[in-house]
Amino acid sequence: MNFKVPKGTQDILPGQSEKWQYVERVIRDLCDKYRYNEIRTPMFEATELFQRGVGDTTDIVQKEMYTFTDKGDRSLTLRPEGTASAVRAYVEHKMFGQVDQPVKLYYTGPMFRYERQQAGRYRQFVQFGVEAIGSADPAIDAEVMALAMDVYTTLGLKDLKLVINSLGDKDTRDAHRSALIAHFTPVIGELCSDCQSRLEKNPLRILDCKVDAKHPAMATAPSLTNYLTDSSAEYFTKVKQYLDVLGISYEVDPNLVRGLDYYNHTAFEIMITGEGFGSITTLCGGGRYNGLVEDIGGPESPGIGFALSIERLLLALEAKNIELPTENDLEMYVVAMGEEAKLKAVELVSSFRAKGISADMDYLDRKMKAQMKAADRAKAKFVIVLGETEIEEQVVNVKTMATGDQTKVEFGQLVQYVLENK
Ligand code: HAM
Repeated sequence: MNFKVPKGTQDILPGQSEKWQYVERVIRDLCDKYRYNEIRTPMFEATELFQRGVGDTTDIVQKEMYTFTDKGDRSLTLRPEGTASAVRAYVEHKMFGQVDQPVKLYYTGPMFRYERQQAGRYRQFVQFGVEAIGSADPAIDAEVMALAMDVYTTLGLKDLKLVINSLGDKDTRDAHRSALIAHFTPVIGELCSDCQSRLEKNPLRILDCKVDAKHPAMATAPSLTNYLTDSSAEYFTKVKQYLDVLGISYEVDPNLVRGLDYYNHTAFEIMITGEGFGSITTLCGGGRYNGLVEDIGGPESPGIGFALSIERLLLALEAKNIELPTENDLEMYVVAMGEEAKLKAVELVSSFRAKGISADMDYLDRKMKAQMKAADRAKAKFVIVLGETEIEEQVVNVKTMATGDQTKVEFGQLVQYVLENK
């Protein structure tokens, strides 16, 4: 048997996992500063939640969900994204009743989509996302975008482009929808079968089609921007004003529509530009979803959020040659020669760890030279060598590896010595 990780998934091994932990720490610190609190929801939900939330006509629901029937005959789905779950929890736990609105949530965890595997696209990937639910203030739209940008800039990424658009309100969408149907109906026979079924159900999706992207009718399609109602246009103007106040530059792209159905008003993506990154250049996507809370059975509570995958974030850092400061060097390596010394080593290693000093030793009864090499590879700051003499005299030389200096320290004083000198 020759087992491999399932297609579209990956093992994150030591060496790489330190980078994940570092990024996750940066994210948690930022969320703390912006006052977003963590929510953890199950990795599977009722299938209907995503059908309703993400939308029946989206690629995610139609083609990409890991759906299964459990032994109780329920249809469940591994979550393809986090917004529907966060909104479900907001409704289920009546968070709309809390005094402080919007409720500002964040999550990190694996999401699952049956997608074609390519660089930056996985079947299991980890999203970090935030959702601010309970406010229709354009200032919170700007805050959410600022937080997303902050993740990347804090980690040292430049060459970013924030692309924004307004999808307007329901009236905007209805007027635009009619215009799209009128525009695509004469050429519908030339478009793919997916687009043909999208025409009546959700013509906006046609603009997102990868197969027909180059069809001439795409370039001349009516732009949503021309159908924005006055109040939608005003809302969008305010969002832009707040971004200006924050000093965040952006580009308005009237063709940005996003691939999920719940969006209205603000939609945005963060792209990486320049050399070094593969064909997928979108690092992060988000937008406003007024109406989703009601669709999922709650009271009117407008919301906005975004999600980004850690995988793409790390790929971007790698492409731009940005090293994360992920040193995990050892403080003390205890070399032991002989049975008695080993007993003492086990005891000492434990007492170092008890005082917060990282410590390790040999478990293969290797020769002294091999143990010293292991200490070197672990980049140990201090090394002690326990042999018969040391055990007898209860004193050992503490070697500072960087300088080669040696200091005689009594066993009883070792922990104190390391604490003072580390
Ligand atoms: P999304 O655009 O589907 O939006 O995904 C957001 C981000 O997740 C993408 O920009 C990308 O970084 C990452 N991502 C998506 N699919 C994959 C994949 N197969 N492999 C690796 N990374 C991937 C959402 O999921 C919305 N829930 C975002 C949101 C939150 N909108 C409002 N609140």
